[in-house]
Amino acid sequence: MANETDTERQLLQHQIRLTQADHTLKALFSRDSDRAARLTFEAPHLTADFSKQHIDSSSLSVLLRLAEEKNLQQAISNLFAGQQVNNTEQRAALHMALRGHIPSAAPEVAEEIKRTQQQMADFVNAVHNGAWLGQDGGAITNIVNIGIGGSDLGPAMVTAALQDYLNPGITCHFVSNVDPAQIDSALAGLTPESTLFIIVSKSFGTLETMQNAERAMAWFKAHGGSKQHISRHFVAVTTNLPAAVSFGISEDNVFPMWDWVGGRYSLWSAAGIAIALATSWQTFVDLLAGAAAMDQHFLNQPLEENVPVIAGLLSVWYRNYWQAESQAILPYSQPLHLLPSHLQQLDMESLGKQVTRDGVSVQQDTGAIIWGCAGTNGQHSFHQLLHQGTSLIPAEFIAIACPASADRWEPHQHLLANCFAQSRALMTGKSTEEVEAEMLAAGASTEEIKRLAAHKVVPGNRPSTTLLLGRLTPQSLGSLLAYYEAKVFVQSAIWQINAFDQWGVELGKQLSRPIASRLLTERNSATRATTSENSATLDPSTEQL
Ligand code: F6P
Repeated sequence: MANETDTERQLLQHQIRLTQADHTLKALFSRDSDRAARLTFEAPHLTADFSKQHIDSSSLSVLLRLAEEKNLQQAISNLFAGQQVNNTEQRAALHMALRGHIPSAAPEVAEEIKRTQQQMADFVNAVHNGAWLGQDGGAITNIVNIGIGGSDLGPAMVTAALQDYLNPGITCHFVSNVDPAQIDSALAGLTPESTLFIIVSKSFGTLETMQNAERAMAWFKAHGGSKQHISRHFVAVTTNLPAAVSFGISEDNVFPMWDWVGGRYSLWSAAGIAIALATSWQTFVDLLAGAAAMDQHFLNQPLEENVPVIAGLLSVWYRNYWQAESQAILPYSQPLHLLPSHLQQLDMESLGKQVTRDGVSVQQDTGAIIWGCAGTNGQHSFHQLLHQGTSLIPAEFIAIACPASADRWEPHQHLLANCFAQSRALMTGKSTEEVEAEMLAAGASTEEIKRLAAHKVVPGNRPSTTLLLGRLTPQSLGSLLAYYEAKVFVQSAIWQINAFDQWGVELGKQLSRPIASRLLTERNSATRATTSENSATLDPSTEQL
């Protein structure tokens, strides 16, 4: 690290110390009977066990000093006060206002939020109680949410996570990809009379969403949907009212969004209306309440007991001092199977930055690659690399203590046992001596032991956090998601980068336009001559493709 400070130098020294043989995770536990309790922290609706991480009191206190030197507490206060933390777009990030924390710098948002949430509640209740009916006077039974990125990932993930809270009369489908295979399969078997489309796009200009919205409208009309009933079957969530109206959506059916909610934080806004439609308005309110509780923890808890702060500092620790390039998110909960995808956007779109807020090149690595899937499935696929691969990959396990219903009790114990066994296996590994003794006891010959022992050794000493939720409820889910948002913010504050813009994404959008116009006109040979100018601008590889 260039121009490192005294604190950064100390962190490097701690990292070296903690890689010594007498400082393995097992050794740290054996010397400190209180370690598990001391490195376990409570936050609303969740308990975080950091004791299987490569930290001890002294290294943690230097990490906390780093946080002080980078003015983390002030950064958190600025965020919650509604200051323009998104300095490249001159915007505040006020998603916490949607869950009740009205910032001092923007008291006017309270009224807008109240009005919008009332509009959402009225609409959701009308669909559920039959006041809002389809064109034939029948109930709406299918919702198709059309959006991409934050206008899809968050709502889809939460709807899947709350499978035990679903309204039995409604099925929710999520369509994001511009590949028509997705919308075509979502629409197969649906009828326009009982289907409601929600077009969710903050900009109302995203190519994928516009293509799918047009395909949905064409399908609606081609399958007997009448023009005068479009208003019963199409609603929009956007900041761009004129574009939604010119697409054909009635002004009364447009739910507002605001510049101060980033796409990846938008599930808490009207962009999350599919969640409430798929479950109930009260469920959505409970989700917001859970997130609000975590917000208060993040804002008020001293840094040394602040769960997202410690988690964020650990991510910095591994990224910058242990050269960990990725982090695995392993929810041992099938309903949370879309969480890793949601967190990929939240974390990687926020932290994939190479310059500081002032536009100066960063001096250290920033965001890690986030990946994972629901356990136990991952155990039968990529966990091999976690256990015996050559990379250090910190893992974050999410376990739910109680099953959703009593009849799931037994398989749920297996689920938990596997979750706890994985973090334990990552830590303890299996030594050469253990492998040899085990093989000997199983009757293996000396020759066989010699041939196979090295393959069976598992190095262990691999770090993980376990987050334990009592139950998977709207409240605990809200808290968990707010925890991840806060954890991302902590990293951005330490690295002094803007977590709320995403300029890199724009390049792909820009470059796809001329290629699309080439592909769309190429079919017609008469137009080739006019596109030759375009072809000159393409590189030879793209041209041949
Ligand atoms: O592609 C990046 C992005 O801007 C995301 O941040 C956002 O969630 C997504 O596109 C969708 O944008 P919109 O809601 O404007 O359609």
